[in-house]
Amino acid sequence: MKSGFLGYDASFMLDFVVTALVLIVPALLFSIYQVKYRKEYKLHRSMQVALGLILLVAVVAFEVDTQLIHGGWQNIVNKDASAPRLDEEALIFVRKVLWVHLIFAVTTPFLWATTIILALKRFSDPPIPGPHSRLHKKLAWASTIDITMTSVTGLIFYYFAFMAG
Ligand code: HEM
Repeated sequence: MKSGFLGYDASFMLDFVVTALVLIVPALLFSIYQVKYRKEYKLHRSMQVALGLILLVAVVAFEVDTQLIHGGWQNIVNKDASAPRLDEEALIFVRKVLWVHLIFAVTTPFLWATTIILALKRFSDPPIPGPHSRLHKKLAWASTIDITMTSVTGLIFYYFAFMAG
């Protein structure tokens, strides 16, 4: 699992998680459209639980590969230590981009877990609007913005770390 499949010098798992993050946003928009305008509550629940599980598996696999197997993202960016692709100045910039990405990436799993667990506990089965709707809407929109920002900032990181230059 040394190189990616998107055509850049990344890693397989980095390409996998980038692809998952890009695909999850339109899937989420579809699920929100179904619940908000078509009242397909059951479909929305199934989709959100599935997306949550996909996110969890993708992130855990990605972290294990990046941290434990490669020993950190810098070893992926500069695979060949004798001829590093990014110099010190470029690395400082990419590190800043990564920090912004991490603000969203670290909070997203917690927000998603809270949104899903509370919704499963507090909405009826089959799910329909009820007393939990008010809180769910707040958590749900926060989760939606958080994952979208995780995706956008993740792509910006990927661009500067692997595509630019
Ligand atoms: C992270 C996971 C989830 C996200 C991001 C999410 C997102 C949303 C959004 C954006 C809305 C529309 C809010 C509005 O009308 O402004 C919504 C509504 C709703 N969701 Fe979720 N949802 C999630 C998980 C779930 C789960 C697991 C269930 C069921 C157990 C559920 C049940 C509902 C219901 C019943 C509504 C309609 C509420 C109403 O109109 O009163 N959601 N969700």
